Amino acid sequence: MRVLLLGSGGREHALAWKIVRSPDCSALFVAPGNAGTSSLGTNVSLDLNDFDAVYDLCVKESVDMVIVGPEEPLVKGIVDFLRANDLTGKLVVIGPSKEGARLEGSKAYAKAFMKRNMIPTAAYAEFTADNYADGVQYLKKAALPIVLKADGLAAGKGVIICETLEQAKASFREMLIDSRFGEAGKKVVIERFLDGIELSVFVITDGREYLVLPEAKDYKRIGEGDTGPNTGGMGAVSPVPFADKAFMTLVEEQVIKPTIRGLEQEKIDYTGFVFFGLIKVGDQPFVIEYNCRMGDPETEVVIPRLKNDLLKLLVAASEHKLAEVEAEIDPRSCGTVMAVSGGYPGEIEKGKVITGLETVSDADCFLFHSGTCEKDQKIITNGGRVFCISSFGADISSAVKKSIGEMGKTDFDGMYFRKDIGYEFQ
Ligand code: AMP
Ligand code: GLY
Repeated sequence: MRVLLLGSGGREHALAWKIVRSPDCSALFVAPGNAGTSSLGTNVSLDLNDFDAVYDLCVKESVDMVIVGPEEPLVKGIVDFLRANDLTGKLVVIGPSKEGARLEGSKAYAKAFMKRNMIPTAAYAEFTADNYADGVQYLKKAALPIVLKADGLAAGKGVIICETLEQAKASFREMLIDSRFGEAGKKVVIERFLDGIELSVFVITDGREYLVLPEAKDYKRIGEGDTGPNTGGMGAVSPVPFADKAFMTLVEEQVIKPTIRGLEQEKIDYTGFVFFGLIKVGDQPFVIEYNCRMGDPETEVVIPRLKNDLLKLLVAASEHKLAEVEAEIDPRSCGTVMAVSGGYPGEIEKGKVITGLETVSDADCFLFHSGTCEKDQKIITNGGRVFCISSFGADISSAVKKSIGEMGKTDFDGMYFRKDIGYEFQ
C-alpha cells in the first residue's frame, strides 16, 4: 500500500514510524513532515488546507490510503473533498467527514451531541452576541469557578477557567463583543467546572465498531508541578494508573459505546480516531472534549505500546472489519518528554542547531521529531515543540527517568523540557 500521511508533528513522526513497520506499506509520503519523517518516507512540502494539492499528490503518487493527522483540514472537510474527487473509488481516507469533525470543530455541536446521546458531560449553556445579556445573567447565577469556551478551533487557547464573576464577565465580553478569538468565539459555551483528574482515551472506529487503544495522560502546562500557561503538551504517560479496569469499563459503557452509537444513529460518516478528553470526578468519567484525531504528545506513548500492525487496523476500519481484530498492548509503561524552544508557548526563535540527536539510545527509546527541519545537513529547530523522547520502563517513573536521561544528551540554544512528567505516579 502507498500511504500519504498528513501533518508535521511528533504525532505524525510516531504514526510514520509505526506505518513503515507494516509489511503492507510499500511507500510512505508525509506532507509536509519534519526532519524525522524524512528518514522514514518522502516528505512533500504542501499546504494541508490546499485540498486540490493534496488530491493531486494522491494521483501523482498512486496513493492508496491517506491518513489525516491534525484537526484543521478535517474540520475544513478534507475527507469529503478527497472522497468526492477520487475517480477510482478506491482511495481509503482515514479521518472523519466534515460533519464528524464538528465534534472537535464546534464545542456547542459536541455538547448537543453528548446531550442527545446521554453521554456524561458538564452542564452548559451556549450564547452568541444576540443573547449576550442572557449570558451575563447566566454567569451571575453560576457557581464558581466557571468555564468559558470559544465554540470553534482556537489552537488550545479558547478555554478560560474563571475564578471570579468579574473575570468571567470580562472574558465573556472579550469573546463575544471584542472578538478575541475571531470567528471561533462568535458562540460561547459556558460550562460547569468539573473538579477531577484528566486522561485521554482513544479509539479507532468506522462509525459502527471501535477498537480501544491504550489510554494516556498528557501534561499541558509549561511549568513543573502543572504551573504556568497551557501548551500543546509537554509530555505524556501511558498507561494511566487511576484508569483501572472498573473505571475503563465505565468509560466504555457510558462514553465510548454511546458516542459510536450516536455516530451510527445520526448517520455521521466517521472512519478514523476519536480522542475522548475525559475527567474522572470521584469514580465517574465525564467528557471534557472530543477531538477528531490522535493527541500530540499522547500518540508518542500510545503508538509504541500498540503491538498490532497499525496499517492492518486502519484497513480493517475502512472495510468495516474492526470486530475481527483485537488490540494487543505492550504491558510496559511508556513516558515521553517534550523539548521546546525558549519562550514557548509565547514568542520563540527558530533555526537553532540541534546537537546530540544521533546519540539517543534506541534500546526501548524512541526519538520523535516535531518542529524540526534540515538545513545545510544540520537539523534545526522549526517550531515551539521541537522533539520528544519516549521510553519504555517497568513503571512510569523508570520510563520517564530514561527519557529525561536521553534528553540530557541533546541540546539547542534555549532548549527546555519538564523533568516531572508523570509526577503523580512516582
Ligand atoms: P479543552 O480545550 O476543551 O481541552 O479544554 C482545555 C482544558 O481546560 C482541559 O484540558 C481542562 O484542563 C480544562 N477544562 C475544560 N473544561 C473543563 C471543565 N468543565 N471543568 C474543568 N476543567 C475544564
Ligand atoms: N495533547 C492534546 C491534544 O493533542 O489536543
